[in-house]
Amino acid sequence: MNFIVAVTKNYAIGRKNQLLFHLPSDLKYFKEKTTGKVVIMGDRTYLSLPKRPLPNRTNIVLTLDKNFKANGAIVVFNLKELFEKIKQFQPDDVFVCGGASIYNQLAKYCHKAYITKIDKVVEDADAFVTNIEELSNWKKISSTESKTENGLDFRFEVFENTHVEEFKE
Ligand SMILES: NC(=O)c1ccc[n+]([C@@H]2O[C@H](COP(=O)([O-])OP(=O)(O)OC[C@H]3O[C@@H](n4cnc5c(N)ncnc54)[C@H](OP(=O)(O)O)[C@@H]3O)[C@@H](O)[C@H]2O)c1
Repeated sequence: MNFIVAVTKNYAIGRKNQLLFHLPSDLKYFKEKTTGKVVIMGDRTYLSLPKRPLPNRTNIVLTLDKNFKANGAIVVFNLKELFEKIKQFQPDDVFVCGGASIYNQLAKYCHKAYITKIDKVVEDADAFVTNIEELSNWKKISSTESKTENGLDFRFEVFENTHVEEFKE
């Protein structure tokens, strides 16, 4: 299992249930990585999508709301159900796609992290993720050159987890 996220320098990822920035190259990168694969999201991120479910992907939504309606997406109500459901897929084909609460619960079970690093600090965000670079088990394995779009510098980095935890109930 992987996770894929766009973060600022202070690991902010969202505000008012929206992304912080519009970066077409990042959306393209996300689409390239996840098309044909399985995407896992919390219900808030799912509801923030302009088009849902994400096309050409198996969408899995985590929610506590038993009445949650997600036509065309698989709905699961806890991590046990989630891990049962993803057993049928290749772990490499499964991408955790947010938001903050879902990344923070699932990062330790991921083998790889695809992180778009935006070279800016955003203090007034309301969704943040753990900085995996502060954890000794995550190693950077690649980074692109910086690119600039809409006045923002960013690069794509990939990290590998050398100590993946196994999900236990
Ligand atoms: N920068 C990026 O790459 C990126 C990517 C994705 C999202 N985001 C941003 O992240 C923000 C949203 O993050 P968020 O943390 O507020 O919301 P979220 O993670 O999308 O969804 C949270 C909801 O998921 C449900 N949930 C969480 N853990 C669960 C579990 N173990 N079992 C069942 N349900 C569970 C809960 O639903 P209930 O409401 O029913 O309690 C919880 O309220 C937005 O601003 C979004 O734009 C950024």
